[in-house]
Amino acid sequence: MKISPCLLPIKILSFIFLLFASALQAQKNFVIPIETAHNVIALQVGNDQRLATIYFGTKLKDTSEYKLVRRMYRRGDDYSGILNSAYTPAGSRNLVEPAIEVTHANGNTSLDLQYVSHSTEKTDDNVSVVSILLRDPAYALEVSLFYKLYYKEDVVEQWSVIRNKEKGSVTMEKYASANLYLTAENYWLKQFHGDWAKEMRPEESQLTHGIKVLDSKLGTRSHLYQPPTFQVSLDRPATEDEGKVLLGTLAWSGNFKIDLEVDPLNNLRIISGINPFASAYTLKQNQEFETPGFIYTFSDKGTGEASRRLHRWARNYRIADGKGSRMTLLNNWEATYFDFNEPILSALLKDTKKLGVDVFLLDDGWFGNKYPRNNDRAGLGDWQENVQKLPHGIGYLVKEAQNNNVKFGIWVEPEMVNPKSELYEKHPEWVIKQPNREEHLYRNQLVLDLSNPKVQDFVFGILDNLFTKNPDLAFIKWDCNAVIYNAYSSSIEKQSHLYVDYVRGLYKVLDRVRAKYPTKEMMLCSGGGGRVDYGALKYFQEFWLSDNTDPLERIFIQYEYSYFYPAISHCNHVTDWGKQPIKYRTDVAMMGKLGFDIVVSKLEPKDLQFCQQAVKTYDSIKNIVWHGDLFRLADPRQNEFASLMYVNEGQDRAVMFNYLTENRYGNGTLSPVKLKGLNGGKKYSIRELNLYPGTTSRMPGSSTYSGDYLMTVGFNPGVNAARASVILEIAEAK
Ligand code: DGJ
Repeated sequence: MKISPCLLPIKILSFIFLLFASALQAQKNFVIPIETAHNVIALQVGNDQRLATIYFGTKLKDTSEYKLVRRMYRRGDDYSGILNSAYTPAGSRNLVEPAIEVTHANGNTSLDLQYVSHSTEKTDDNVSVVSILLRDPAYALEVSLFYKLYYKEDVVEQWSVIRNKEKGSVTMEKYASANLYLTAENYWLKQFHGDWAKEMRPEESQLTHGIKVLDSKLGTRSHLYQPPTFQVSLDRPATEDEGKVLLGTLAWSGNFKIDLEVDPLNNLRIISGINPFASAYTLKQNQEFETPGFIYTFSDKGTGEASRRLHRWARNYRIADGKGSRMTLLNNWEATYFDFNEPILSALLKDTKKLGVDVFLLDDGWFGNKYPRNNDRAGLGDWQENVQKLPHGIGYLVKEAQNNNVKFGIWVEPEMVNPKSELYEKHPEWVIKQPNREEHLYRNQLVLDLSNPKVQDFVFGILDNLFTKNPDLAFIKWDCNAVIYNAYSSSIEKQSHLYVDYVRGLYKVLDRVRAKYPTKEMMLCSGGGGRVDYGALKYFQEFWLSDNTDPLERIFIQYEYSYFYPAISHCNHVTDWGKQPIKYRTDVAMMGKLGFDIVVSKLEPKDLQFCQQAVKTYDSIKNIVWHGDLFRLADPRQNEFASLMYVNEGQDRAVMFNYLTENRYGNGTLSPVKLKGLNGGKKYSIRELNLYPGTTSRMPGSSTYSGDYLMTVGFNPGVNAARASVILEIAEAK
């Protein structure tokens, strides 16, 4: 090959660079600092070529000092020498919980992983991916660890790729996404549990030696019992503004497992990934497997900062159209349940316009003919309009919506089927169920086998048909109510692949939907928050937090979700749940994406007037709520009220939401609430928003306050039994 003379110096230089780089990599005992703006994971390649975590947390100014961290600890001997492995293999010298466990092609169950090389690929000024290649010295099995770094947001997405280069199939018994190693005096875990209408109930406890497991084996809406989100505080439970804290979550819409192991040396090992339960996965020769991302952020300034970092990341990089806008809506679920027809819906379309929201959302019950969907016992799977209820089809309603100057949206639950349906009669083989066992239903339904490509086509077809026939259809509510019982697929080669291939099948469908319909607004619903995670939110703009819309309950639910998911993704509807007046219900729903699920025509004139005005008020503040920074000011679990505020990027506008949550005599905001996130040097005026018709604000009208005053002394929103919810707008006084 001829080299042009002008290229010669470049070639020589790059040759020298490569020599230098490989010399560096052949070196032992060197550190790979994986850094974001404030944090670092310092990995070290030891004399034995093993990759270990030597430091995790706040960055040091001098990178060379990471090597000196561990010498300050005198916590005893690590007999195996790999307690701090960056990705712990099973079956050789490791004696603790592994991140990866395999059975090699020859049946051997040992694994060792040694460092081979690493590289960094920069996507842009903010995003880069560090990849580290590890290989078993005895077997042709490779693992690449990936760390996607979002520098400014201080968020890391970590995953692994496992490659089988052996001559024959390898079975992965466990295949985690990430294996972190944290060092502190003690560790506090905040976990969440749930049930229908009881989502995101927090529990905080100190981790003791041994393993605490957070997991799900439900298959679909995993965190009906437990979501894949958690918080770990170091040394003491973090507060909103103080303490070292990690927020973590797995981006996977199926079974997950998070092991939190306090090891014999009092370090915390966190291993997060797909749940290996009933999921041994075979890799044929030359096949590789990419695990889902484990997403985390660390803050040494408390949970508030950690949440804001996660929110910024989610809006900038993960949630579908995270920086965009959302449509307000009127949903008919609680207004009609299954009991509607064309004239009723036509009237509701008029009500949508009257209310002033953007879209009417037709819920469950519009389909099924042989088995009409008149209750939740039949029809699911038969996605043809019910001719009795909708003789002129969806198209007519979409047009009717246009005539009323609103948009039209529709509910689907495409992954599931009622046994009483034509789909089930025609394709029993598409349903997940054991061939020799009695069916066990959840909400009268079973789950379709999305590991089967034919089922994937069918599910994609449901959405595709709706959009093809009705190009102006503007909104989809994608529900998912059933869990997987009797896990068995009649089409899959290996049953232990089902849980994983189900989720992969779901993502394939959603990839196709998004490739063809990239901008349609889609709400992820699962009888509540039973499913939200950052794997699914790549495809969905928003999620339904809970069927529990009692505003008092909702404050608690929204508060806990706010640790992990930004307000732009929270769908909150004003309904008839709860005993609070319409103002309270609406004020609570405004702290996210506002919707209504009430009978507009039955509203008292003043309530209607209030709602109409509230929609307009919401329009004026929604951008701050959706795109601003969240500051939690008062936790309803520690106070008689909740206070939260959102501040825009320019710090010249903010909205503060305050709600009475304990209604005993004399309760409320007895002292000022300290505001946060403002500019201390700016002057602000404060105005009460969303007043009920005929009432006046008790705010001192004309005063202005410095940001310094508001953040040091605070401001009393005057919450009490007579003013149970108060929304304040804080705007720079110019
Ligand atoms: C559960 C959802 O959470 C509700 O909002 C509603 O869509 C029903 N499913 C419909 O069956």
